[in-house]
Amino acid sequence: MQTKLTRSPNLAARFIVSGEVIAFPTETVYGLGANVFDDAAIKKIFVAKGRPSDNPLIAHIGNLSQIELLTSHISTTAAKLIDRFFPGPLTIVLPKRNEVPAIATAGLETIGVRMPRHQLALSFIHACGVPLVAPSANLSGKPSPTTWQAVKADLDGRIACILKGEPTEVGLESTVVDCTGKNPIVLRAGAITMEQLQEVIPATRLAKHNANAPARSPGLKYKHYAPLARVVIVSNVQDIIPPPQSAFIGFHIPSHLDQFKRMQLCLTIEQYAQSLFQFFRECDADGINVIYCEAVSETGLGLALMDRIARAAKL
Ligand code: TXA
Ligand code: MG
Repeated sequence: MQTKLTRSPNLAARFIVSGEVIAFPTETVYGLGANVFDDAAIKKIFVAKGRPSDNPLIAHIGNLSQIELLTSHISTTAAKLIDRFFPGPLTIVLPKRNEVPAIATAGLETIGVRMPRHQLALSFIHACGVPLVAPSANLSGKPSPTTWQAVKADLDGRIACILKGEPTEVGLESTVVDCTGKNPIVLRAGAITMEQLQEVIPATRLAKHNANAPARSPGLKYKHYAPLARVVIVSNVQDIIPPPQSAFIGFHIPSHLDQFKRMQLCLTIEQYAQSLFQFFRECDADGINVIYCEAVSETGLGLALMDRIARAAKL
């Protein structure tokens, strides 16, 4: 299949209408979209990514009224979070309508819903005329793509079209919050922080991940975000003795500076988050064996950043 590259949301939308899957930018990472009501198109997402079929997809809406196409029950807590954080990098898990096909939610009775705040994404969804289910537009297991070039590197020839935008602003995926119970439970840390959520609903909690219990967010049990290189988390950058073909990303200048093949110094946590996945990809292209990532405190955006680094570091 020839993968078309375009900057036109209307042209990209025509592929969705004809049952194809299209990569498009959002403020978090690039997504791989299909019509939420088109079983055959959704199947193509799982094939193109090599994604396990028990991992549910997030539905992306272009305006608030589209929520009603996906769910018939919005709790008071969900309504408060929607009011405060939509559009934006927050996914809310709600009971799904019967009309939403089982393949979209991997058989779950719930569906994750999010409205991106990215202008091109909103124009594209609007032109499609339906909500789009969209996982991150990477091959399963790889770091999420933050540029259209990263999407092309993973999915060229496997999807009909890439809607080209700028590098993504946040660089990490949305926060996933389960709002089907009494209090919101954060299933995946992300760009909307725990502190921001607790400002609106103080009872918001982080899901406890028990290795023996079934994962509440099925995607979390898979290896994710992983470069080919070994990822090592370091607290004190002065302790690193880099072997050949090493890389470093973090805030502080490590000792043995001249012995790193690749290095990215970040000024802010936002910049660290925005660069991480792209840095992983550049290291892979460069034949790096070990990537040292400086640890950050698990507050604010640091919670999501450390979650992604820890997953990448897992053997
Ligand atoms: O920022 C994002 O969320 C990006 C952009 C494209 O919007 N999308 C994204 O999708 O990261 P994906 O498929 O890579 O990750 C979705 C996560 C997975 O961990 C999945 O298990 C979880 O959300 N999820 C989706 N629907 C769910 C549901 N109904 N219940 C629990 N977890 C769900
Ligand atoms: Mg993903």
